[in-house]
Amino acid sequence: MALNSVTVRVPAKVNLQLSVGPRESDGYHNLVSVFQAVSIYDEVTLTKSHPGSGVTIAVTGDQTHGVPEDDSNLAVKAAKLVGTKFDFDVDAHIEVKKSVPVAGGMAGGSADAAGTLVAMDALYKLEATREELFALGAELGSDVPFMISGGTAVGTGRGDQLTAALSRGTYHWVFALSTVGLSTPSVYAECDRMRAELEVAAPKVSDALMQSLLAGDAQAVGRALHNDLQGPACSLRPALSLVLEVGRDYGALGALVSGSGPTVAFLVADEEAGLDLAVALTASGVVGSVARATGPVHGARVL
Ligand code: C5P
Repeated sequence: MALNSVTVRVPAKVNLQLSVGPRESDGYHNLVSVFQAVSIYDEVTLTKSHPGSGVTIAVTGDQTHGVPEDDSNLAVKAAKLVGTKFDFDVDAHIEVKKSVPVAGGMAGGSADAAGTLVAMDALYKLEATREELFALGAELGSDVPFMISGGTAVGTGRGDQLTAALSRGTYHWVFALSTVGLSTPSVYAECDRMRAELEVAAPKVSDALMQSLLAGDAQAVGRALHNDLQGPACSLRPALSLVLEVGRDYGALGALVSGSGPTVAFLVADEEAGLDLAVALTASGVVGSVARATGPVHGARVL
């Protein structure tokens, strides 16, 4: 019997390093981004529907606020892009069960697009190569290829040109979530504004970070965490500086804004330290809610 439905599980990400070069003429920035996939997941279920019904979507779960249920959703765009590239009419319903924070700097929208690409490939037996899926992903957003690949990787160009990175061990994270997201373009714009008078060097991968990952040394990884968008995100949302401070005071190995924020990520020594920090952050009153996760984990996978 032909397959009628496919479910793909896709993780969130944290950037261990995000170095941003000068603004290019196309408005984008050359990046060096060291990604780690972490164990907070969205589930994308794709079901074939009647001919002529087109692509529809429903978003469920605990993180749905502000997610569009129309053609502007990146998952719908992903399904349609596959139809265009492989030249067929897509009649399918997408259900996204969300746990990844929306507009949180953890690639939630990109994860759903990545999950949809992998689901389309499986449901319609397209047998696309990984490179083809990565190329489709890059058309949808800079983080989409990494959400397909998962693990630990270095992204260059817009962050979409991936090279796998060697990493040992499991890393434990606590995430401080905000109820109100930050728009990625506005954080990049704030970055440009703050650096307007400065000579901005081309971004380069941190040797200290790569060596720490290779050694599986969480303390050294904590010290090497770096995000050029942290200043701009804190400038737009000053309360984030306080959140960073509270986590550092409670003994996190490292703390940084995740991607373009406003999620703040804390690296901790182990599960117990994560529980302690989660309790402390909640008790401090400066954090709306917290999530714990480990990484690296796999990218988008059919269940
Ligand atoms: O590629 P994506 O759609 O995820 O990017 C969202 C926004 O982030 C872009 O519109 C741009 O403002 C900014 N961006 C950037 N340089 C990159 C990636 C993203 O300026 N390399």
